[in-house]
Amino acid sequence: MPRQEEEEKKGSEQPEDDSKNYKMMSFTGLFKYQPWSDKTLVVLGVLLAIVGGAAAPLIALIFGQLIDIFDPNKSVAEVNEAYKMLAMWMGIIAGVMWFAGYFQYAFLQHMAERLSFDLRSRYLRALLKQETAYFEKIQVEALPSEIADHFSAISEGIGEKVGQVIYTGAMALGGIIIAFYVSWMYTLICFAYMPIIFFGFAIFGKSMKTNQSLKLAAVKELGGRTEETLSALKLMVSFNREELACKEFDEIAQNTKNKAILSAKSMAGMMGFFMCAMFGFFCYAYYIGSVLIQKNMVEPGTGKKVDIDLIVSASQATILGMLTTSQLIPILPGVTKALMSAKKIFDVIERTPEIRSKETGTVNLLSLKKGIRFDNVSFRYPTQPEKTQDIFEGINFTIKSGTSTAIVGPSGSGKSTIV
Ligand SMILES: Nc1ncnc2c1ncn2[C@@H]1O[C@H](COP(=O)(O)OP(=O)(O)OP(=O)(O)O)[C@@H](O)[C@H]1O
Ligand SMILES: [Mg+2]
Repeated sequence: MPRQEEEEKKGSEQPEDDSKNYKMMSFTGLFKYQPWSDKTLVVLGVLLAIVGGAAAPLIALIFGQLIDIFDPNKSVAEVNEAYKMLAMWMGIIAGVMWFAGYFQYAFLQHMAERLSFDLRSRYLRALLKQETAYFEKIQVEALPSEIADHFSAISEGIGEKVGQVIYTGAMALGGIIIAFYVSWMYTLICFAYMPIIFFGFAIFGKSMKTNQSLKLAAVKELGGRTEETLSALKLMVSFNREELACKEFDEIAQNTKNKAILSAKSMAGMMGFFMCAMFGFFCYAYYIGSVLIQKNMVEPGTGKKVDIDLIVSASQATILGMLTTSQLIPILPGVTKALMSAKKIFDVIERTPEIRSKETGTVNLLSLKKGIRFDNVSFRYPTQPEKTQDIFEGINFTIKSGTSTAIVGPSGSGKSTIV
């Protein structure tokens, strides 16, 4: 058991090496210290996100019904009645989406802020309880920025992004289920278009990301050079270097402009592709649909006759499912980043300090009343190389409580270390 504990401790010190630690906290594990009220908020938030997301594709069914209303054989009264029904259903769907959208966001965001606040205070307490040797092993100077980074990732990723992932996921799944419910055969035909959407998004998305980071690097370089030139302005004038500085600046500015244009072009390409993919899909789906109607196709198994109502509903639901699935791609990294940050925070919260009393988990200051006794104590800082000598080896002394003792010795002999 002690060995296992030691291994766990070693594992918990892993987060100090950022580049190698890709472990994530489980979503449910995040709430292990939270009260029931917070857990209830999470469950309600998740359920409402599913309801809100799944309600959106129902619109596809209404569109199909809407087409049905334009049947010339129907009387005016029948058309009026059908319109009323559809308007009522649209109203209900809109109401459900508003209610679910508002409350899922409010619940999850509220919970994320509370979780982040609670973890912050637990983290700080746990950090202050660690033994001095722990701080020798981590980069203390980087802690403030790391803490800020981790907690902003948690409050943003867990609240907003988790809600978005569930909402979008439910919408995508709902769209696909509705499409298959309306017509499995026609939906499968529509799915043949899916690779175009996914490869397109992957290619355009990657080029957009690359060009965006090139542009940011160029803007940073331009800013740095401007600052450098302005701060050494007098020196430059006294050496007659203005012309050269302007020439250099022009070159960097030109490069920045080119990169910005490239970035804008790839963004335009992405937007263009999105619209092209959407309308291209309708072009493909309606063409195939019209062929199936002309040939009086009947769906095998279900015996459903392919008509305009079916084509419109299934194609709308399919495209909604496909496009929303691709929307998940940019949201997911936010959630994984939050879960990775949470793992690092929990590792510190759950780390058992090496120096502690068995009962309280902290160094028992009350024992100082009896005095201080060093009994054959040796010490070396953990950061010192293995081969170096211990700072002190096997020292023994006793300091009685209420007395004064002077520790004397040459510089570097370990006086402060003893204290
Ligand atoms: N945080 C640390 N990490 C690694 N080595 C350390 C650390 N602090 C002190 N040392 C080393 O431990 C040895 C003892 O240092 P310490 O500060 O205890 O000496 P000191 O007797 O208090 O010296 P001084 O009289 O100059 O204050 C020195 O060699 C020092 O370089
Ligand atoms: Mg000292």
